[in-house]
Amino acid sequence: MNILQINSSARADGSHSTRLAGTVVDRLRASAADGQVAVTVRDLGQTPHPELNEATLQALFTPSEQRTPAQAARVALDDALIAELQAADVVVLGVPMYNFGVPAALKTWIDAISRAKVTFQYTANGPEGLLKGKKIYIVLTRGGQYRNTPSDTQVPYLRTVLSFLGMTDIQFIYAEGLALGADAEQQSLASARQQIEAVLA
Ligand SMILES: Cc1cc2nc3c(=O)[nH]c(=O)nc-3n(C[C@H](O)[C@H](O)[C@H](O)COP(=O)(O)O)c2cc1C
Repeated sequence: MNILQINSSARADGSHSTRLAGTVVDRLRASAADGQVAVTVRDLGQTPHPELNEATLQALFTPSEQRTPAQAARVALDDALIAELQAADVVVLGVPMYNFGVPAALKTWIDAISRAKVTFQYTANGPEGLLKGKKIYIVLTRGGQYRNTPSDTQVPYLRTVLSFLGMTDIQFIYAEGLALGADAEQQSLASARQQIEAVLA
């Protein structure tokens, strides 16, 4: 089993989403029937991926044999993210809520992995995602509580974009109310760990 863990907190130490995503990975590792588990960790907070700017768009839309060395190098950075996602059987995402959305670092990753004719394509029947057959776990950490409310833009957004790319089997794990005091924080983290045990039982 190939597991890809994507962290998107800006925090290196003390990130709940990174720690809980690690708990999911540990639980998956422990439950692997054959014990054959490879884990790749990409930390988008500590090693940010470059943004999608005009130069990047020009590089992407230039035929590969005509790219300058700088353009080829830029496309290769996106290629690497796509390759490690294609190789993954299971993807574990750690996602804090930042200002009612996903961290910009995660959006940059999504911009890199969404490539026409590679990770999705348009057919006569409409769009088709090409990253199929993967199990996705997403740990959501929040200071407040937004689950099942219109203010939770993260869940519909992530479900929409990942499904568009073919990743339809998504399990969300919530740690909410982390800023509502020490007791609420501990309860939230305990609840998240229970959710992890329940979904991976
Ligand atoms: C810049 C910033 C913006 C945030 N915006 C929100 C928000 O809109 N809603 C919310 O519930 N919590 C918000 N929070 C709280 C974080 O979601 C919470 O602290 C979470 O645990 C951060 O994830 P981490 O522990 O993995 O770093 C924000 C935190 C930061 C640092």
